Amino acid sequence: MAKTIDPWGSKLIGNYEKIMKEFGLEKFKIEMFPNPNRIMRRNVVFAGRDLKIIAASIKNKKPFYALSGIMPTGDKIHLGNKLTVENLRYFQEHGAITYILVADLEALTTRGVRLKEAKKRALNFHIPAYIALGLDPRKTVFYFQSENKDVIYGAYEFASKITLNEFRAVYGDADPSRILAAVTQVADILYPQLKKPMPGIVPVGIDQDPHIRLTRDVTRRLKSKYGFVLPSSLEHKYTPSLDGKLKMSKSNPGSYIELPEDPEKTERKIMNAVTGGRVSIEEQKKKGGQPEKCMVFELLKQHLVEDDDELADIYKRCRSGNLLCGECKKMTACKMKDFLNDFNDKLKKAKKDINKISFVKF
Ligand code: TRP
Ligand code: SF4
Repeated sequence: MAKTIDPWGSKLIGNYEKIMKEFGLEKFKIEMFPNPNRIMRRNVVFAGRDLKIIAASIKNKKPFYALSGIMPTGDKIHLGNKLTVENLRYFQEHGAITYILVADLEALTTRGVRLKEAKKRALNFHIPAYIALGLDPRKTVFYFQSENKDVIYGAYEFASKITLNEFRAVYGDADPSRILAAVTQVADILYPQLKKPMPGIVPVGIDQDPHIRLTRDVTRRLKSKYGFVLPSSLEHKYTPSLDGKLKMSKSNPGSYIELPEDPEKTERKIMNAVTGGRVSIEEQKKKGGQPEKCMVFELLKQHLVEDDDELADIYKRCRSGNLLCGECKKMTACKMKDFLNDFNDKLKKAKKDINKISFVKF
């Protein structure tokens, strides 16, 4: 029996291997894709569905798409969004036609965000933030759910292919607003195939996997009518919270890093993080630190060190007791500051260029 995870909640998933088995996910194998990106090389990307068909599309230079959605709530994004953008960018650089949608209908029905407000937020912040993180707007098709009639009509049509029981089995509950959001999301993911069926990949955090499962179930039923190809997914782990919990959560702001964020505040958070250090400096020099238990190392591994040799060197120096946590945290805070400042510069530039972007129209 597949357990349910709630993509809107924040229940922790302790054991990724177990989740993979329960959900029937494929293990991500690094040999499948050319020039794997940092998070693929580091096992942050750990699973997926139907990855072979995407690998073959890349290899044979056959058309495929990569797609993701932005929730226009608040005026912040998080490090999980950064991982998604990095994977989108990978596929974009390997020939994918890229789609980014603003989930304004989802925000309206599940969070009560008015459409006008959602549009303002997406244009003033979320889309520029995705561009600042490396998305190439010239190679991307953008749309708002509320302005894409094929998506809306698709949602109405595809809704007839799901039963309430199935919905409950995937999500655990069946709120009308969640049903609306989910069928719209199914239509989002299939939208690029309406003109012409082709493989597509949706990079997601593991908490979004229920959406992928539902979409694939619906797609199986529509296959004979439309010839759709089952959409693939690429799934990444959470960036753990600095207090050692599996996922960053707004309920503990001292351990949560958002984007954008004040570099000084981030330094304090990193200095207070749970590490794999020993009880005393003497003991750490003798026994060495434990990077595999360390939230600071996780931050370096997932986000802040691009070069594999540099990361291996930090790991070795930690294990041998040559690198102590104080120094290591300072170095990490410094790298974080550089990243945040760079992000802010790119964000400013992307905000200026927002008028150059065109959207799919009703
Ligand atoms: N539900 C997604 C979220 O909570 C947003 C979204 C809507 C989406 N449509 C999508 C994500 C299609 C991926 C693909 O963030
Ligand atoms: Fe973590 Fe760095 Fe301390 Fe090692 S030295 S345990 S990597 S903070």
